[in-house]
Amino acid sequence: MSVLVTGGLGYIGSHTCVELINAGVDVVVVDNLYNCKKSSYDRIKALVGRDFKLYICDIRDKQGLNQIFEEEKIDSVIHFAGLKAVGESVEKPLEYFDNNVNGTLVLLDVMRNHGCKKIVFSSSATVYGLNNVSPLTEDMEVGGVTNPYGRTKYMIECILKDLYTSDNEWSICLLRYFNPIGAHKSGTMGEDPNGIPNNLMPYITQVAIGKREQLTVYGNDYDTHDGTGVRDYIHVVDLALGHIKAVEKVESENGLFIYNLGTGIGYSVLDVVKAFEKASNVTIPYKIGARRAGDIATCYSSTKKAFDELGWKAERGIEEMCEDSWRWQTQNPNGYPD
Ligand code: NAD
Ligand code: UD1
Repeated sequence: MSVLVTGGLGYIGSHTCVELINAGVDVVVVDNLYNCKKSSYDRIKALVGRDFKLYICDIRDKQGLNQIFEEEKIDSVIHFAGLKAVGESVEKPLEYFDNNVNGTLVLLDVMRNHGCKKIVFSSSATVYGLNNVSPLTEDMEVGGVTNPYGRTKYMIECILKDLYTSDNEWSICLLRYFNPIGAHKSGTMGEDPNGIPNNLMPYITQVAIGKREQLTVYGNDYDTHDGTGVRDYIHVVDLALGHIKAVEKVESENGLFIYNLGTGIGYSVLDVVKAFEKASNVTIPYKIGARRAGDIATCYSSTKKAFDELGWKAERGIEEMCEDSWRWQTQNPNGYPD
């Protein structure tokens, strides 16, 4: 089986490439290097002990993508490539719609023209919006999103559903990720955000290593066990393994499938701080700040459907997520080398 992985050098893509290659899948990566370093390619190769094809190309470049499909025999696509910073998407909506939505349209068109109709798409729990109550199940109404980033995910889900309705030779799997954290056990691959991290775990690890002074906890007056926001953190390697099951699903039958990838367990911001302190033996100074716009109190996943239909469940707990994030941060204080 040969899988084209768009955005395969990014955080989730790189971990997924390692698991795919270890499972014997032929991987071809396309990435425009917008939000990753090329050294992540070397790290993947070092971990799997073999070479694989990388195309440095933007998915909006139709000619470039056509060439990849002409040169390679692609059975299915895992589509990670996209921009993902919520705040930035509010400032640059056109860039987000162009990169994420238009990029996906170009990819789908090229796939169709080459008779490749199997795709696994990186969606997000953000599509459940503000009003659904956790545990979130895949049949809940989606679309009440609060920002352009979330809207691109929702729009792409709609496009993929319409595509399947128009032609049921397609096999499409929408994966709604909860909060991926953690890193590869080796400490050689992990999350490498640009500038000030937006997300909790990279912020904590940067405080721990002394790059940032203290964490600001965004609100402690939510209706949760300690007043801070509750999320479903999932180890990136568990997430990567979920993609193998999803690819097997689209390879084995046509259809439109939707799965949450989460652990089903909610931890508050302060739970994560405590777990990290225990794993790292480092104290995390923090202050309580205002709520962040668009945040909700509680978000965690129902894991039943992914388990029943894919036979997948997350195995790694919060301790392991913290240990692995910390190992990556200490071994790579400045992220991937240039
Ligand atoms: P990432 O930024 O680390 O990886 C995305 C990769 O795509 C990067 O290597 C980037 O260079 C590449 N890319 C972006 N636009 C491209 C384009 N037009 N052409 C070619 N390559 C392009 O992000 P990630 O955390 O690995 O996320 C992967 C996917 O999962 C994204 O679609 C993201 O929206 C989605 N997602 C992520 C999270 C999360 O918390 N990390 C949660 C839910 C969904
Ligand atoms: C954010 C995005 C969401 C995206 C997800 C995964 C927003 C509003 N939502 O979700 O669309 O799918 O990341 O990439 O940005 N927190 C702090 N201090 C910090 C950082 C975070 O207290 O410095 C808190 C947040 O308020 C939240 C929790 O930590 O309660 C997790 O935050 P984060 O890692 O940003 O993820 P989400 O808010 O779940």
